[in-house]
Amino acid sequence: AIDISSLTRQTGHTSLDYGFVNTAATKSAITYIDGDQGILRYRGYPIEQLAKNSTYLETAWLLIYGELPSASELADFDTRIRRHTLLHEDLKRFFSALPHTAHPMSVLSAATAALSTYYESHSDPHNPEHVELNTIRMLAKLPVIAAYAHKKSVGQAFLYPDNSLSFVDNFLKLNFGVLSEEYEISPVMSRALERLLILHEDHEQNASTSTVRLVGSTGANLFSSISAGINALSGPLHGGANEAVLEMLGRMRDSGESVQRFVERVKNKEDGVKLMGFGHRVYKNYDPRAKLVKESADEVLAELGVSDPLLDLAKELEEIALNDDYFKERRLYPNVDFYTGVIYKAMGFPTRMFTVLFAIGRLPGWLAHWREMNTDPQTKIGRPQQLYTGAPERNYPGVG
Ligand code: ACO
Repeated sequence: AIDISSLTRQTGHTSLDYGFVNTAATKSAITYIDGDQGILRYRGYPIEQLAKNSTYLETAWLLIYGELPSASELADFDTRIRRHTLLHEDLKRFFSALPHTAHPMSVLSAATAALSTYYESHSDPHNPEHVELNTIRMLAKLPVIAAYAHKKSVGQAFLYPDNSLSFVDNFLKLNFGVLSEEYEISPVMSRALERLLILHEDHEQNASTSTVRLVGSTGANLFSSISAGINALSGPLHGGANEAVLEMLGRMRDSGESVQRFVERVKNKEDGVKLMGFGHRVYKNYDPRAKLVKESADEVLAELGVSDPLLDLAKELEEIALNDDYFKERRLYPNVDFYTGVIYKAMGFPTRMFTVLFAIGRLPGWLAHWREMNTDPQTKIGRPQQLYTGAPERNYPGVG
């Protein structure tokens, strides 16, 4: 039994809440979710409207500054970002110290953490000029780092950013362009990627955003906080699920295991196997992002002229799961990660890049939350309580 009297500290009450299922750590004005209704809004705007009409950078501005930008504000934001895309040449060499087999998410977090070594003297979280500049630096440089992580994994030369291109087109060229060859950007791919990035831009206090806030609450600089968020995102229960979904589908296809048999194994929790891309802490209804991604999947694959049996397999899995009592009782629906991988694969990204794409998508949300936290006078260092269950006081051998 736990002695509750020992738990009364500053606030007079401590609750044990594994996984913070019921505990709010902050107030926030950025994103609204109604998990029962399947509603997601950024700064009040429905995700469906933003995905259809906005761009990655416009939505980033909305999340960070609270309102949609005017045309000139957006143009200025875009220009400032284009001017900061270059990485220091020494940082480029940093990549060669890492093994080519490294997971691109590890490369992404390591190089993001390394950014703070270049900007140490301008990294005061409470200096508005530093915050503004580093916000731009992060938005400009993360896609370049991501593309270099990709290039390194496939053994190709890094390209310099082409600042005549839009944010998304530049990213596509950095990934798929090769030295001394023209790279023709597919408008279908560009728009599809922009849409997916918008859908990922924020999701209130998810594990990676909470990590960014927790690390930031100690006064750590922006680069260190974002690097921590990337690490939190990498796990298969969070952003890493998009990679895990494709691996799961690939294994089913290769082994010839039937969908029914796989679902039975999930329900029996055999070897802890889960239906990856299903279930969500907050959504107890269809994830509105998953609905949009599913709609896009058919459209994008058709437009790119790609057919992929894994998409059919995913749809079959969804159909069976949604009609099965195990999933119905637990209110498990596809989440955003269930269909994204099929689209990324059709675009030509290797599976290990999928979570990196999620990170680029989520960056504006991390930035918005880090800034909101640092300007909220009520922010305190994040420091959860615990319930001690260890040994009582005892003497070191030979003492007492
Ligand atoms: N497959 C099979 N069973 C599941 C799944 C799943 N994908 N998700 C949840 N369950 C079951 C659990 O085993 C549990 O069953 P029980 O009551 O018999 O013990 C019940 O549903 C409740 O699940 P919890 O794990 O308690 O739910 P929680 O809110 O803690 O976890 C999570 C949410 C981590 C997303 C979980 O649903 C999961 O692991 N899903 C698969 C991984 C995934 O897709 N992650 C991406 C999430 S979205 C994102 O981060 C972008």
